[in-house]
Amino acid sequence: MCGVIGYIGYRNATDVILKGLSRLEYRGYDSAGVAVLADGEIETLKRQGKLAVLKEELDKHPIRGNTGIGHTRWATHGVPNDTNAHPHLDIHGCIAIVHNGIIENYQELKQALQKKGYKFASDTDSETIAHLVSSEYKGDLLEAVKKAAAKLKGSFAAAVIHKGEPGRIVGIRLDSPMVVGLGTNEFFIASDIPAILEYTKNVIYLENGEMVDISLAKGVSIYGLDGKERKKKAVTIKWDISQAEKGGYKHFMLKEIFEQPTVLHKIFGERIKKGNVVFDELAIKPAVFKKIKNIAVVACGTAYHAGLTGKYLLEKVTRIPVWVDQASEFRYRDPIVNKDTLVIVVSQSGETADTLAGLREAKRRGAKVLAICNVLGSTIAREADGVIYTHAGPEIAVASTKAYTAQIAIFQLLTYYIAKERGTVKGVDKGFLQGLKKIPHIMDEMLKEYEKENKISYYATKFHEYYHARNNKSCFLYLARNVNYPNALEGALKLKEISYICAEGYPAGEMKHGPIALIDENPWVVCLAIKSDTYDKMLSNIQEIKARDGIVIAVVSKGDKLAKEKSINYAMEVPVVPEIFSPFLVVVPLQLLAYYVGRAFGYDIDKPRNLAKSVTVE
Ligand code: M6R
Repeated sequence: MCGVIGYIGYRNATDVILKGLSRLEYRGYDSAGVAVLADGEIETLKRQGKLAVLKEELDKHPIRGNTGIGHTRWATHGVPNDTNAHPHLDIHGCIAIVHNGIIENYQELKQALQKKGYKFASDTDSETIAHLVSSEYKGDLLEAVKKAAAKLKGSFAAAVIHKGEPGRIVGIRLDSPMVVGLGTNEFFIASDIPAILEYTKNVIYLENGEMVDISLAKGVSIYGLDGKERKKKAVTIKWDISQAEKGGYKHFMLKEIFEQPTVLHKIFGERIKKGNVVFDELAIKPAVFKKIKNIAVVACGTAYHAGLTGKYLLEKVTRIPVWVDQASEFRYRDPIVNKDTLVIVVSQSGETADTLAGLREAKRRGAKVLAICNVLGSTIAREADGVIYTHAGPEIAVASTKAYTAQIAIFQLLTYYIAKERGTVKGVDKGFLQGLKKIPHIMDEMLKEYEKENKISYYATKFHEYYHARNNKSCFLYLARNVNYPNALEGALKLKEISYICAEGYPAGEMKHGPIALIDENPWVVCLAIKSDTYDKMLSNIQEIKARDGIVIAVVSKGDKLAKEKSINYAMEVPVVPEIFSPFLVVVPLQLLAYYVGRAFGYDIDKPRNLAKSVTVE
């Protein structure tokens, strides 16, 4: 949940670290800090607040040096303030550490260290690492980190420097991500690739239980926690740094919404070959898909919603029973999963702690696990029996958009792939893949039209006015049926995340069983009412809402006058496509609505409060 970075080389470490932190800020942004070796001493500067606050302070009090570490925080233990911000120093000011994750046994270690005279400055679990390494230090940082690691419990990634060992960083990884970047006469360590992409594309992924000794004099050596050296190859990253920049858009979220046609075009171009679906990297044999009796999808947040969409698609076409679980529930509820089950874990980051735990639980029970992931080489991708990458490029905004539609694209293709393996592809045959391939262009045209009309941003402004006129009493309800029901949940989640307005997603048929009690002139009800098998039912829902003075904002099929008439107050049109492909298009106006409402309220869209992009703690 935090971002960690380290640098050794010929550049000014502070500059590299600050740039890197700006690309890791999506991981946490309640405080930030740097520790740099300058003239034989470790100089630190830490500030509560976003990175900009630290930057301003560093402009006034620059720190120069060639060895350093930095951190951007999402608080777990101890409130966000200057003291609890990282890096943390040991009692002698010789060792500095940055840490992402949780030290579960920190209380016990802290007490033991306190008894030995170690004084703690902060309320964090992380500070324990600094003192523990210090208590083990006998002149060799790697050795001290190894000994300290043997006593630490939890999931973490940390980078450590010592003032007596300039040009050296020791890193360790246990369940939290960490990559090492290899430059020419310079090295990097970071929680995620975009932080170092400007300087190098050659990286080594650290595995769980690995330590890295990075030294300007000796290069990079990787060890297991047993101290044995491991030979590892560097991989070359294909992402471009421009993908991690805003490219003229006001926010990453907006850029990522507009990137969706390109992402889908790429996915279908790569995966549909000669009228067939190809998953080159998939290590699970086709025979497995023939044998399975049921499918469980396990994920969190937006990825969970993509999984729900997957259920509709898979069941409809393959006729295999599918259920979908939030990973945090799956892992503890003694799920009925065995060798007949295919468990599909879905994760943009590939590092979400609950999803990872779900994956491990499924494997323990004998199921085959297939991961749908965006981040190459992530833990989930590596631990699953097989992975299908979404190749959506780096997603920086905390509110996920392009990763969601990319996950749905993979579910669509997987549906076809499994159906074909099992000989159940009938009604969806060739036309299915051809239809899919048209979606990116249709979406692109739709986005161009939205840009021209600027309607959705106008609706958002209207809502903003309405909200204040009603003494902040308004909220949102999202209703849909069938394959677009997950989009109702997703639309509500997007709005909650970035505008902090209460929003609930419901199957429209459930409205009469409770949510209808909410309807008066206050809430805005977003009805997903495109032409479909359940269209008439949605129109009836709209009537019921309007009869109770509700404000309706509807997603309707292009040119559908009837729906527009009934749903006015506000309508957002999407092109007509077969219902099975409609989730791709229907979600886009919902993403934009959330974006513009957040903007109308003046919130920090890419860094919403209390959230972090990748939730690597439980
Ligand atoms: O990296 P993951 O896909 O595993 O992340 C899962 C959720 O944390 C994530 O989708 C979260 O809900 C997003 N902020 C949604 O916009």
